[in-house]
Amino acid sequence: TQSFRLGVAGLGTVGASVVRMIARRSEALRSMTGREIRVTAVSSRDKARDRGLDLAGVTWFDDPVALAGAGEVDCVIELIGGAEGPAKATVEAALAAGKHVVTANKALLAKHGAALAQAAEARGVALAYEASVAGGIPVIKALREGLAGNTVSRVYGILNGTCNYILTRMEREGLTFEACLKDAQALGYAEADPTFDVEGYDTAHKLAILTSLAFGVEIDAEGVSVEGISAIQPLDLKMAEELGYRIKLLGVAQAAAGGIEQRVHPTMVPLSSSIAQVMGVTNAVTIDADAVGELTLIGPGAGGEATASAVVADVADVAAGVLRTTFGRPSAHLAPPQRIAMQRHEGGYYIRL
Ligand code: NDP
Ligand code: HSE
Repeated sequence: TQSFRLGVAGLGTVGASVVRMIARRSEALRSMTGREIRVTAVSSRDKARDRGLDLAGVTWFDDPVALAGAGEVDCVIELIGGAEGPAKATVEAALAAGKHVVTANKALLAKHGAALAQAAEARGVALAYEASVAGGIPVIKALREGLAGNTVSRVYGILNGTCNYILTRMEREGLTFEACLKDAQALGYAEADPTFDVEGYDTAHKLAILTSLAFGVEIDAEGVSVEGISAIQPLDLKMAEELGYRIKLLGVAQAAAGGIEQRVHPTMVPLSSSIAQVMGVTNAVTIDADAVGELTLIGPGAGGEATASAVVADVADVAAGVLRTTFGRPSAHLAPPQRIAMQRHEGGYYIRL
């Protein structure tokens, strides 16, 4: 059996789960892909920390960029995080060396995704990013491959597990925003800098990736209007409920006159709607498309195991020879993306459900 050798850069919440999952699923992965998939190299900052991983026979790199260029690696899994710095340098080095890349890093893709995809295509290697949006939900695959016969008119949903977890516990248990955020961090849901979660930027990064795939346009995270949940008080949630609503942080991308409107903001959704039932770290993505009508995917939006599930799915695809990288479909029907001012409506923002 031909082997497929993985270099895992970043052994935090997601990276450690990926290393365990690859070992646990090795037989199944072999029968799925026809290859022996194994971790041959890892990199993290703190070599001394016990992560509960069996790294016998695995080469340790202090520098993830060195791992990216190492001979014993066919595919680099970047799980460091951040749009710049070591994550970007690692992905660029891997692609330049002709290595496949799997990443969960939406901040990196939202900013540099188009250039990285081009670099991957130029080298004939994969840039795979299922884990970058909505944790364990296979939404990239659904949108890019599963709905190839559709024209999409809207994509929206709950795309940040941390925010939905915070809103849920504030509402159900009357806890403060700060206490809920602390718990989300302890559970491994939040970004290294949780401002990205609570101020809506993480949702914006994910939305920009979905927009690109759904509408066949270049990724444009700068064009997303963003407002997060940090100003939401328990009283807001209570008042919303009395009026028959629940507050959710939504990301919405829809075709509008002249381009694609992209926005992220707290939204009052009717208590009777299905999206109002999505609680805790769960995410939900609804896609409106001409052939299938409305399609909703619901599942775990964050956490080590759920996110590793998406990373390992990419690894299996790449090992089996699937090299799709492109943001935006080749036959873009709407181009280029335009920044459209968010529609503000009296009494707040709304979305027709
Ligand atoms: P963590 O903060 O838990 O892990 C980051 C890892 O990167 C750590 O192991 C850290 O090392 C390592 N690291 C940081 N800087 C360097 C460096 N210079 N060289 C080598 N290693 C370095 O993050 P997560 O696992 O939560 O997230 C990883 C990625 O996955 C991010 O892009 C995130 O946005 C994304 N993601 C996370 C999800 C989640 O639920 N957590 C869900 C979906 C995506 P050390 O441990 O030694 O400090
Ligand atoms: N911090 C992110 C979230 C991780 O809470 O949704 C998943 O991308």
